[in-house]
Amino acid sequence: MKPVYYENGALKMLDQTLLPTEEVTHSYTDYREIATAIVDMIVRGAPAIGVTAGYGVYFGALEFEGLPREAFLKEMETVCQVLRATRPTAVNLFWAVDRMEGVIENNAEKTPAEITALLKTEADAICSEDIQMCRDMGAYGAELIHRKDTILTHCNAGALATADYGTALGVVRAAWEAGKEISVYADETRPFLQGARLTAYELHKDGIPVTLITDNMAGWMMKQGKIDCVVVGADRIARNGDVANKIGTYSVSILAKAHGIPFYVAAPTSTIDFNMWSGDDIVIEERDTREISHIKGQQIAPDGVRMENPAFDVTPHQNVTAIITEKGVVYPPFDLSIPRLQDK
Ligand code: MRU
Repeated sequence: MKPVYYENGALKMLDQTLLPTEEVTHSYTDYREIATAIVDMIVRGAPAIGVTAGYGVYFGALEFEGLPREAFLKEMETVCQVLRATRPTAVNLFWAVDRMEGVIENNAEKTPAEITALLKTEADAICSEDIQMCRDMGAYGAELIHRKDTILTHCNAGALATADYGTALGVVRAAWEAGKEISVYADETRPFLQGARLTAYELHKDGIPVTLITDNMAGWMMKQGKIDCVVVGADRIARNGDVANKIGTYSVSILAKAHGIPFYVAAPTSTIDFNMWSGDDIVIEERDTREISHIKGQQIAPDGVRMENPAFDVTPHQNVTAIITEKGVVYPPFDLSIPRLQDK
C-alpha cells in the first residue's frame, strides 16, 4: 500500500481525505500543488510528508531547469521555502528538504539540468530508504511483541503514513508476519479520524485483526486488561526522548503509565531532531477549527463557539518505555541513548 510514489513522470498520491470510502489517486507535477497536498493532508504522516517534499523539490527543479544557473538557484530557494512552510511539526519534512538542498549546494557548479537529474536520484533514495527503514524497524520492534499480544495504537503510523509498510504498524505487520497472532485496538483519533479512516482501513485490508474504539475508550480497555502494550509513531523526537505525535498520544501515554503497560514509539532516525534538546521547543501545528466543528461537511457544534485545534502533543520521555528505530531499540536514559544513534 503506497500512499505516495513516482510513476511516469508524475508524483502519485492516494487521497487520504477520501479514504476509506473512496480510493482515488491524484497525479502531481507542480511543486506548489504538491505543497498544497501536504497542507490539505491528501498525504500525511511524518515519513510520507518527507518523501513527498523530496519529490516536490525535484518537480520544482524540473520546472526551472531551463533557466541560467543563478536564476535556477534563486528559484530553488523559493521552492524549498514553499515546501518547508507547509506543516511545522513533523521534522521529516525539514530533514528531506535539507537533504535535497544539500544536493543543490554540493553541485552548484553543475548545470541546472544536471542538478535536476541528481535531485531525482535523491528523491528516489529518500523514498526507497524509507521503506527499508520501516522494514528494519518492524524487525526490531516485533521482538518486543509477545505471542497473542493486543496492541493499542493511536492515529495512523502505517503504510499510509510512510512510503510503505509503516512505523508503528510496521511493527504490527512484522509481528503478524512472524506468526504471533496479535490483535490491534485502534483509537479513532479525533478530529481528523486517522485511526478510524486509515488504521482500521489498512489493517482490515491486510487481514490483521483490528478493533476500532473511540479515543475516550482507551483507558477503560486498559483497566479491563485488554491491552498488552501501546505502539505509536512520532512526528518529531527531541534529543531527550520527548515525543511529538498526533494529539491524544500524550493522554494515551499517561493511561499506559497508570496501568503499567509498556508504551513504545516506532520512528525512523529521520524523525529524531538531534538539534532539539527537549520537546518544549517543538512547534505544534494549529489547524482549522472546522476539523472539530464539522464531520464530513456536517456541522456538529454551535455557530460562533470558541474552539482550539492543536494537531499534535508532546509525550514526556518519562512516559516512553522504548523507542524503536531502524538502527535498533533505544531505552532510557534517552539523553544518552538517542545521541548514540547519530553515529551508528
Ligand atoms: O496529522 P498527521 O496525520 O500527519 O499526523 C500523523 C501522525 O501523528 C503519525 O502518528 C506520525 O506522523 C507518525 S507516521 C509514521
